[in-house]
Amino acid sequence: AATTRYEAESSPAVCTGTIDSDWTGFSGSGFCNGTNATGAYAQFTVTAPAAGTATLAVRFANGTTSARATSLVVNGATTQSLSFEGTGAWDTWVTKTLTVTLNAGSNTVRLNPTASGGLANLDYLDV
Ligand code: GCU
Repeated sequence: AATTRYEAESSPAVCTGTIDSDWTGFSGSGFCNGTNATGAYAQFTVTAPAAGTATLAVRFANGTTSARATSLVVNGATTQSLSFEGTGAWDTWVTKTLTVTLNAGSNTVRLNPTASGGLANLDYLDV
């Protein structure tokens, strides 16, 4: 099926932090720079044509050498622990693939950081 891109800086996405554009290479008009705090999440609202397994791709950058530990929360339920590893620089963007179960229609996909460093910078989610 065709891929739909959900930009982190565009409604209905929610970024608990700021929308920044100071590092280059992002898609769209910017990226979500989550507040450096536990629980400072980013959330995407995505549409699935049918219930079932879906492959998502999240594009991120982490210019530190420490992974950013993050829970993947789908429709309010934590489904996986993710680790957004260092990408070498804040303007080096990497895509991480996630396998999730979605409902038909609208779904929320939240990335919820579990450590004080908060999220990696997030560019988009492809569904
Ligand atoms: C730097 C960088 C931000 C990043 C932040 C972080 O301030 O410029 O883009 O979000 O580090 O540690 O999360």
